[in-house]
Amino acid sequence: MKRVLLIEDLPQVAEHLKSMLAREKDVEVAGVQGQAEAGITQAKTEKPDVVLVDALLQGKVTGFDVAKRIRAASPGTRIVVVTVPQRPVDPRPEQGIDAVFVLPGGANELASALGGTRGGKHEGGGQIIAVYSPKGGTGKTTIAVNLACVLRRNGASVALFDGVMQFGAVRHLLPVPPATRSIVDLPAGAAMRGTLAEAIWEGPGGIDVLLAPPRPEEADLVAVSELTNAIGLLAGNHDYVIVDTPARLSEDTLAILDAASVILIIITYQGSTIANTRSAIDTFEALGYKGQKPLLLVVNQSDLTAGLSKGGMEHALNLPVVGEIPSDSKLVSESNNKQAPFVLSNANAPVSQAVANLANALVSQQRKR
Ligand SMILES: Nc1ncnc2c1ncn2[C@@H]1O[C@H](COP(=O)(O)OP(=O)(O)OP(=O)(O)O)[C@@H](O)[C@H]1O
Ligand SMILES: [Mg+2]
Repeated sequence: MKRVLLIEDLPQVAEHLKSMLAREKDVEVAGVQGQAEAGITQAKTEKPDVVLVDALLQGKVTGFDVAKRIRAASPGTRIVVVTVPQRPVDPRPEQGIDAVFVLPGGANELASALGGTRGGKHEGGGQIIAVYSPKGGTGKTTIAVNLACVLRRNGASVALFDGVMQFGAVRHLLPVPPATRSIVDLPAGAAMRGTLAEAIWEGPGGIDVLLAPPRPEEADLVAVSELTNAIGLLAGNHDYVIVDTPARLSEDTLAILDAASVILIIITYQGSTIANTRSAIDTFEALGYKGQKPLLLVVNQSDLTAGLSKGGMEHALNLPVVGEIPSDSKLVSESNNKQAPFVLSNANAPVSQAVANLANALVSQQRKR
């Protein structure tokens, strides 16, 4: 069910669009707002799947301003701008305009504008697996890289996206040639589609890698909306998109998690992990992720139990553990240093088999849904 928020100040147009939406299947009207500010507030708090906003809102705040502000506040929301033939508007995802509905369009035009909603529900598209942890150094990048390689080895088409714009580490774990392009080299908005392939590097076993910028100061050159844009495009032509994420719940991270169809939370049995994870899960609940997409725990270095247990962790965090990866300092650090993912170089090692089991668990999880 798509939750659609309508922001329209002309009562007759609002009524017309509302009744069109009511006739759409799988659409639920989350609200109708006649005022730009009230619309933005509702979008911020409820994060609907789609916002339909009139480009010609009367008053100080235009429909375009509304689109930009909602994009920044809720990057997972698809934004459809409503206009009339005399005032043509082009889709510009980087400005918050994902699609345009021209009045008096019919049901088909409306349905296609409402489209393959963002927020991970890319119809016909691949699974977006975000690898997240509320603590640094738990093994996100290691697991993201090796999970991508295993899924690819099993025959799926896989993209690996380094979602850590500053000091992204995927490039250090793989034999990436120095001049390889990254997301910072791609044009923003709709133009990204045509050039994305030029920035993709074919990594070990045939995974398609999209890197984060090579230099820390370039991080700010990549707008949050471009992360979602890239992820959506990768999901359009891969079975899986694995996204490595920063530990901080920054705007970037939230945009990635919004776009994800599955969130893997990497934990260890060490120290403050449970407390941090509890807080992160509270945030995810507030964002409405629970019930919307699977939140799954992966215990890394699972043999270092520090007196805790898998069951205890599941109970404390009220989420299932989908994978347990044992520690293997020698193999993991050597293969990271040699830029040769251990699942490919040492497929039989327990740590490699554990990542393979995780991949299988994710595939069967997906089938069940
Ligand atoms: N299963 C494991 N066994 C032994 N060492 C591991 C294991 N997983 C990860 N490591 C080691 O832990 C360190 C951190 O791993 P990694 O860089 O993947 O974590 P991260 O969560 O991505 O960190 P950051 O928050 O800095 O991005 C690395 O030195 C890596 O070799
Ligand atoms: Mg990392």
